Amino acid sequence: DGLAAWLRYARVPSASRHLGKLPSAVVTLNATKGYPVHTAGQELVDGIGGLFGKKLTVAKSKPKGTTATVGTVSAYVDKNPSAAKGLPDLVEDGFYLKISKGNVLILGQNERGALYGAFHYLSVIAQGNVSDFTLTSNPDAPVRWVNQWDNMQDGGTHGSVERGYGGDSIFFWDGHIREDLTRAGQYARLLASIGINAVVANNVNANASILTPENMDGLARIADVFRPYGVQLGVSLNFAAPQLLGGLDTFDPLDKTVVNWWQGIADNLYKRIPDMAGYLVKANSEGQPGPMTYNRTLADGANLFARTLRPHGGIILFRAFVYDHRSLNQTLDWKADRANAAVNYFDGLDDKFEDNVVIQIKYGPIDFQVREPVSPLFTHLRRTGATVELQITQEYLGQQAHVVYLAPMWKELLDFDLRVDSKPSTLKSIVSGKRFGQKLTGYAGVVNVGTNTTWLGSHLAMSNLYAYGKLAWDPEQTSTGILKEWTTLTFGHDKLVHDVITKISMESWPAYEDYSGNLGIQTLTDILLGHYGPNPGSQDGNPWGQWTRADDDTIGMDRTVWNGTGFAGQYPPEIAAMYENIETTPDNLLLWFHHVPYTQKLKSGKTVIQHFYDAHYKGSATAQTFVTLWEKLKGRIDKERYEHVLFRLIYQAGHSLVWRDSVNQFYFNKSGIPDELGRVGNH
Ligand code: GCU
Repeated sequence: DGLAAWLRYARVPSASRHLGKLPSAVVTLNATKGYPVHTAGQELVDGIGGLFGKKLTVAKSKPKGTTATVGTVSAYVDKNPSAAKGLPDLVEDGFYLKISKGNVLILGQNERGALYGAFHYLSVIAQGNVSDFTLTSNPDAPVRWVNQWDNMQDGGTHGSVERGYGGDSIFFWDGHIREDLTRAGQYARLLASIGINAVVANNVNANASILTPENMDGLARIADVFRPYGVQLGVSLNFAAPQLLGGLDTFDPLDKTVVNWWQGIADNLYKRIPDMAGYLVKANSEGQPGPMTYNRTLADGANLFARTLRPHGGIILFRAFVYDHRSLNQTLDWKADRANAAVNYFDGLDDKFEDNVVIQIKYGPIDFQVREPVSPLFTHLRRTGATVELQITQEYLGQQAHVVYLAPMWKELLDFDLRVDSKPSTLKSIVSGKRFGQKLTGYAGVVNVGTNTTWLGSHLAMSNLYAYGKLAWDPEQTSTGILKEWTTLTFGHDKLVHDVITKISMESWPAYEDYSGNLGIQTLTDILLGHYGPNPGSQDGNPWGQWTRADDDTIGMDRTVWNGTGFAGQYPPEIAAMYENIETTPDNLLLWFHHVPYTQKLKSGKTVIQHFYDAHYKGSATAQTFVTLWEKLKGRIDKERYEHVLFRLIYQAGHSLVWRDSVNQFYFNKSGIPDELGRVGNH
């Protein structure tokens, strides 16, 4: 069942041997149907039933025999005042688990935490561990959101998903909210099991029509199917809605009628959805309207919404992805650089935002490339909290037709030390709020599941969604550890299945980088046609600013302060100095920061051009091995998933050759420098 993903509750090996170590009944404390503690009780019954074939019942008070008790700390302490002393401190959404001889105690700081604890316990026993343990688990950051880029309407006919590769929207159809929201509820269940607490259902390129009374009613129905899982709904706004929908002649954020209009919207939404999470706003970016349309600052824009949300307890995630895709001129301006935009726009605003504003920053300064340095904006916001925006949908990374396990890339970014004030300042310590002490910080993941029964269009791609939730909860977890859990829950316990999936997954990001864009030149996908497939030539000579500045002799963006766009100078001094100097810039970001001849020597001793040739052969050769590795699993997993994955791996193997040859040939044609091994050239 693809829809169940990692929540299949398939029978564990030798299940009957473990029955004595499991509870015999479930007790829920103060459970109300439609709320997480009630859901937790149901999941325990379903989970233990599926995993071990043991039928449990839900009881109100303590029955005879071993029990699983689940509820909030406060409900538990009400009933057992003397137990309060022994309980650990929990932060919002945190949980406490105590497993002892078949008795299970699952307490959440809130209802949502109780459900998280139940899912955690089920995950542990599904992995075959029924031994006693005690665990206190608190999330690393409070904001753990998912963004869907689902369109309300697409030519008025149906709900497509921008950069979605798994079918149509599970939320929208024909400009309305779908009648049948079963899939939305199933999605919330998956998300709750990995600690995600909110979903923005509509695209950041937002339709104003999401705010009609009828669609607000529809949004309330989405919130209703999310609520049992503790998942809150967020809404993306179109900044010009007062004009587009409200009939006002302005959307100036400081205009009184505009402020009142937005207050009415917030009040109307919260009347229908009292627990709404808040808003997500993309403004003044890629042609979207925003406060700068009226010469107001981005803070004026964000605060407008923040103030209307405050009485209701909502927060606004305001995106830092602000740039003008029409103003950049590559030929005339050596110093033009889209990477500079975010810091340029946000500098000086740190202390201007309301305290329920969070700035949502893409991990890199450009746009979800296969390798980017961490966005320097994270070091410029010390009072205002930030979320890091990661992309689960593989927009530039093979669109789920290529396997690319992303946890290793995310870990590298999160572990990167930005050295603010020359002190340890990893990205993860900034987005947890620990480094600068902000309250509202965390993670936003662009997921883009659709109606496809695999959710993302590929079974293996689901490890990325799983890993996203796990890292947002605890970024100390390892890529392989997360993968092992996911593989057991999704495919079972067979060692060969584990070995193969681990090998393919862990080699996949390096291989993809090798056969796409190397040395920090960006992914080299076709940038105008869907961000898919190789097209190095499309990078330059357009206003989008994802340039490589490749000519016959040289390549790379000079982002130094002394001679280039100055981007390197947006980092704290130690990091700025590292990137400013070609000697200390790591090879894998060389062309991100420096403009060099193709014959420039890398630290490896190779030239840039020879590295290109070799990496493309290496990466595509690795992709060929994925097929033969996977074929070893024939008969070891169900035919349907075996073949679904195999089909994609064969495609990836072939497409990696297309990548190899087009990129190599392109740079050979430009540079005229032959491959030392004679593979590339005029055949
Ligand atoms: C990318 C993507 C767009 C998206 C934009 C954003 O550029 O291709 O589809 O709208 O990012 O994040 O806003």
